[in-house]
Amino acid sequence: MTMTVPQPISVEDAAALLRAGKLCAFPTETVYGLGADATDPDAVLAIYETKGRPRFNPLINHCSDLAMAEALAEFSPLARRLAALWPAGLTLVLPALPGNGLADVATAGLDTVAIRIPDHPLALQLIAAVGRPLAAPSANPSGRLSPTTAEQVRRGFGGRVPVLDGGPCRAGVESTIIRVEGDRLVQLRAGAIARREIARAVGVPVELAEKDAAISAPGMLVSHYAPNALLRLNAEPRDGEAYLAFGPAPAFDGVSRNLSANADLHEAARNLFSMLHELDALGVGTIAVAPIPDTGLGEAINDRLERAAAPRP
Ligand code: TXA
Ligand code: MG
Repeated sequence: MTMTVPQPISVEDAAALLRAGKLCAFPTETVYGLGADATDPDAVLAIYETKGRPRFNPLINHCSDLAMAEALAEFSPLARRLAALWPAGLTLVLPALPGNGLADVATAGLDTVAIRIPDHPLALQLIAAVGRPLAAPSANPSGRLSPTTAEQVRRGFGGRVPVLDGGPCRAGVESTIIRVEGDRLVQLRAGAIARREIARAVGVPVELAEKDAAISAPGMLVSHYAPNALLRLNAEPRDGEAYLAFGPAPAFDGVSRNLSANADLHEAARNLFSMLHELDALGVGTIAVAPIPDTGLGEAINDRLERAAAPRP
């Protein structure tokens, strides 16, 4: 989007934009989210392009009710007790249901999904009107403060992003993120709801994620997909390796995929996780990956590839 968009917009306008694969910012009780249809890979990629985000982080999938959430993930009895706190500034990380329809750029190729039902009437009306989960990070350009008013969103993106105005956000900080691991609860991010409050509500203590693990081995963070195969980056393929090409590819006898034969970074980003999964599923020892230009979405692609290639313990 390069033109400024007419404001204000209604829930119906916002839903129509989102259903058409466009972005629209919307209010939640925590911060404003930059929303896209979470099942549409091109729409989700537009989030990264618009935010100028240098990496693909897995995103939170916002649902309007429990039925929508239950179509995305497996809810254990403990997860169900946590879900009883919804709508709330609480995000649950749960095992993904296969074939849940989410774009893998929304989950960054992980087999878990982050879900929440926000506690804001306009957000709930909007998601219900779209009829699909909305992927949404905070509605600010990368590296800037999270917006808590529609005006901040408009200013942040220079008027290029439509905003559904729901007034100032109540909480003003992002949701608390809890990963449910069997009968354990691990807090991945402190946020709008205190850890103690969650523990008290479900009668299970909430542990803190190990910080050191995250700092010393960024490639190994639970929230980062790592293939079983080793990755050789900026490489040409050798015998016995699989090859992940980009652009015109050299002749190669082995198994290969091309992220984008036309060297289109948007197409490459869309294919990245599924092609890595496909090659990895073949059980090869090493995947050689062609050089990817470090511009535009290439920065996020290279960030993911570097994490996936990082040395492992
Ligand atoms: O309050 C909020 O949570 C706001 C509003 C808009 O809902 N959203 C937000 O999204 O803060 P974002 O994209 O800035 O943060 C999403 C966080 C990231 O830290 C990401 O790593 C984590 O959720 N996340 C998403 N999926 C995950 C997964 N499968 N495993 C672990 N962490 C995950
Ligand atoms: Mg943010």
